[in-house]
Amino acid sequence: METIRVRLRFLAYPNEIGIILPLHLCQKLQLRPRQKIIVSVGKREVTATVYQSRKDPESNVVKVTSALKQQLGIPHAGLIHIKRENDTLRIGPSIGIVTTGVTNSMRKPIGLRSGFFQKLLQAQEGKGVFYFIFSPQDVDWEQHLVKGWFLRPTKQGQYAWRKLTTAMPDVIYDRIPSRAAEKQDVVQAFKLRLAHEFNLPMFNCGFFDKWGVYKMLSPLPEVNEHIPETHLSPSMETMRAMLRKYRMVYLKPINGSLGYGIVKVRHLPRKGYEVTYHNGTGHVRRMFQKLLPLYQHVFRNRRKRSYLIQQGIQLCTYQGRPFDFRVHLHKNQQNNWVVSCMAAKVAGAGSVTTHVRTGGMVMPGEEILQHLFGRQWQLVEERVRSAAIRISNAIEETQGIPLGELGLDLGIDTHGHVWMFEANSKPGRSIFKHSRLRQADQMSLGLIVDYSCYLANF
Ligand SMILES: Nc1ncnc2c1ncn2[C@@H]1O[C@H](COP(=O)(O)OP(=O)(O)O)[C@@H](O)[C@H]1O
Ligand SMILES: [Mg+2]
Repeated sequence: METIRVRLRFLAYPNEIGIILPLHLCQKLQLRPRQKIIVSVGKREVTATVYQSRKDPESNVVKVTSALKQQLGIPHAGLIHIKRENDTLRIGPSIGIVTTGVTNSMRKPIGLRSGFFQKLLQAQEGKGVFYFIFSPQDVDWEQHLVKGWFLRPTKQGQYAWRKLTTAMPDVIYDRIPSRAAEKQDVVQAFKLRLAHEFNLPMFNCGFFDKWGVYKMLSPLPEVNEHIPETHLSPSMETMRAMLRKYRMVYLKPINGSLGYGIVKVRHLPRKGYEVTYHNGTGHVRRMFQKLLPLYQHVFRNRRKRSYLIQQGIQLCTYQGRPFDFRVHLHKNQQNNWVVSCMAAKVAGAGSVTTHVRTGGMVMPGEEILQHLFGRQWQLVEERVRSAAIRISNAIEETQGIPLGELGLDLGIDTHGHVWMFEANSKPGRSIFKHSRLRQADQMSLGLIVDYSCYLANF
């Protein structure tokens, strides 16, 4: 049955478990006055009595008694959706974002990441959803309740954090912040128990590792052309063979991020081998006549087994510096991938990677493409966009778990070919700080809510 947007209000009736609807909604939802119906919010349900409101038969106001509100764990009034599914009248959707580091501070409940989560939650405006943050410890598994942080509008026209007890949600967006947090017992226990006890979709669960992504994508003909040749735990012989084949290779930690631990090696004819990396304080560049001492130098302090070696791609340059793209993609409410943002990242002087941390600069992708390719720019953009969507579909299909969001690092080589370096299941949002990417930021935040509505079947 169709999903209906309504305004939810509460009635102070502590002893009556009832829901009051105007005539036209009773008709649409096939409800008779005085009948009993199961009403649900997220994973909680209560049997309530239906009443038909006498006033204003055409209004879209649905009233819930305080007793029903309390028993269902309805967090707040306002714009929301209702839907009849068989014997149940659903109110929602209820969307929970799970993370760690949740505190009791009224001003900054998620510590330094409060601003990040505030922006996520602000995207609910006008969407008609229950949307909140919670941590694995906040779940009451017996009662199907959870203590969540909501962002509510104040009378002064601002927002304030409110901690409210609500029903276990319809859908969960996994925002566990790091691999280290992911490994914690509480997080593991939460995910295990959730999978066992609830039929509840969670999207963007966990983290990808670079080798896993390579193994998953390289055999697929529809995306294989975009995946650079990669090997795990490189031996000296592998490095020599790869350098012979490609002249340049990248060594990357499997679970790395932000460019940490990345090493570039080049074979320069008649000059020897060059190694470049960032050592935490600055860029290091060293020459070696023979490969063995270079190999020993690189793997003196790095664990070979947690590294991979990858075909180096000669990236297109902007003002003499290599650049690549962060393509941010989302699933929309129709369950299709859309690109919300394409940002170019231009490498800092002498840097091996394009991260802002090592002097890189973010620019709207469009601007850099127009600058470099003139009238052809849209063709190039379309090539990057279509590769990104094909790759996202391939990742989602092979993973077999719901994915609502991806951050892909894609580069164009000097021949115009598109390559993928990395797929992020927990993409950062720092590119969106760029003043000309604000609209993309809003679109991206809104799509997280839209896909959640899809998964919640609203
Ligand atoms: N094979 C490669 N060839 C050329 N440049 C690369 C290659 N791999 C990585 N890079 C550069 O290094 C950056 C960081 O690599 P990435 O694999 O995304 O690691 P991280 O997880 O540290 O972000 C890329 O955005 C790209 O600019
Ligand atoms: Mg990256």
